[in-house]
Amino acid sequence: MKPNDLSEIVSSDKSHVWHHLSQHKPLQTSDPLVIVEGKGLRVTDINGRQYLDAVSGGVWTVNVGYGRESIADAVREQLVKMCYYANSAGNIPGAQFAEKLIDKMPGLSRVYYSNSGSEANEKGFKLVRQLATMKNDGKKHKILFRDRDYHGTTITALSATGQEQRKDQYGPFTPGFVEVPHCLAYRAVNGDDADYGVQAAREIEKVILREGPDTVGSLCLEPITAGGGVIVPPEGYFETVQEICRKYGVLLHIDEVVCGMGRTGKWFGYQHFDVKPDIVTMAKGVASGYAAISVTATTEDLFNQFLAEPSEKMSYFRDISTFGGVAGGPAAALENMRIIEEENLLDNVNKMGDYVLDRLNELKHKYEIIGDVRGKGLFVGAELVKDRKTKEPVDESVAAAVAADCLRQGVMIGRTNRSLTEFNNTLCLSPALICTKDDIDEIINSIDVALGNLPH
Ligand SMILES: Cc1ncc(COP(=O)(O)O)c(C=O)c1O
Repeated sequence: MKPNDLSEIVSSDKSHVWHHLSQHKPLQTSDPLVIVEGKGLRVTDINGRQYLDAVSGGVWTVNVGYGRESIADAVREQLVKMCYYANSAGNIPGAQFAEKLIDKMPGLSRVYYSNSGSEANEKGFKLVRQLATMKNDGKKHKILFRDRDYHGTTITALSATGQEQRKDQYGPFTPGFVEVPHCLAYRAVNGDDADYGVQAAREIEKVILREGPDTVGSLCLEPITAGGGVIVPPEGYFETVQEICRKYGVLLHIDEVVCGMGRTGKWFGYQHFDVKPDIVTMAKGVASGYAAISVTATTEDLFNQFLAEPSEKMSYFRDISTFGGVAGGPAAALENMRIIEEENLLDNVNKMGDYVLDRLNELKHKYEIIGDVRGKGLFVGAELVKDRKTKEPVDESVAAAVAADCLRQGVMIGRTNRSLTEFNNTLCLSPALICTKDDIDEIINSIDVALGNLPH
């Protein structure tokens, strides 16, 4: 095959690539989207058509935008010098990035490298299970997760996921994972009380008491739920969660796979709240997709519980991730972080985040179908409903039609899909942290047109 024969590339893709999250039947009669180039917020497909990407690589990943030569250079330089050695040994960018990262996370002190968000979360779960065995006679092995949260694609990360449709057909799941209720004020189970945040957290306490506090090891939460519908926790929620975790000796594991690295206007989503996690996981934005890297960060206290004399053969964290030793990962992450700092991207996220929320609220005034607008920083969602009073969600096909119309207009937006049985009805926006008012106007205008085109 000639390297630049584009029709052959499409044909090879159609014949052999099994795409993620995709039903392939329609691709028997149409061509797949093949992305060949990216610069800033724009990507170009194999037919030369350009799109404004409002979801940073489809799944909120390319935080600093496409085409960053300095990251490519940093990775190249590292790979040529030393591409890989298992992380049982150290490497230079690994040590440097750990130092810089911990600087941004007061209270945490240890960095464990792996290569996907699911894997980073699994490390967190394994730490809890091993601690239960070593320190608590096998008790405190249960791990709580929340309705609507997602923690990854592997069977155990799915076991910790509160999205019934995403989990459907993949059981049986790993035992010892227990669900707690969500904290979405718009769909508050107990009404819209002013102290809903505190009440929602108290629901977690009820589960801990029901299960028995001596059986519960950790609580794993997204700081702002992503694929479950962009859920910003209500006031008082995290502070009460923290108090409950301390009261019952439950470790707090925050999954920053989406929110980490500036997405919400702070380095980490949990930093909007008065909360001190024991375990923090991160992946996507850590190197903005320029390299595969994920991190499980812990407190020194947690780390110290694995310190013992070498004669105690089973006492250390006996885990490895082969690609956690790819030195290009932290090399990319270091440069990614430098860009966020040098270009003041957190400031931009806060300014543009306010702007995109204002613009979405304008659309809410215009279209009855928008029931709720919510988000933090450049991480926002608009929930579509059939009726504002009953809040009955629109069918998934409506959100899909809006996204497809935007795509036809050259704008890629996201939506919750095949995750929750009822609530695949939220449009999602997470443009790169470099986006401008003009970019946001273009995104919002396309949604405006798409909503106007829906049958009335
Ligand atoms: C909150 C959250 N945690 C974990 C994951 C899993 O990350 P990965 O796909 O890198 O395994 C995702 C992926 O979308 C996510 O959104």
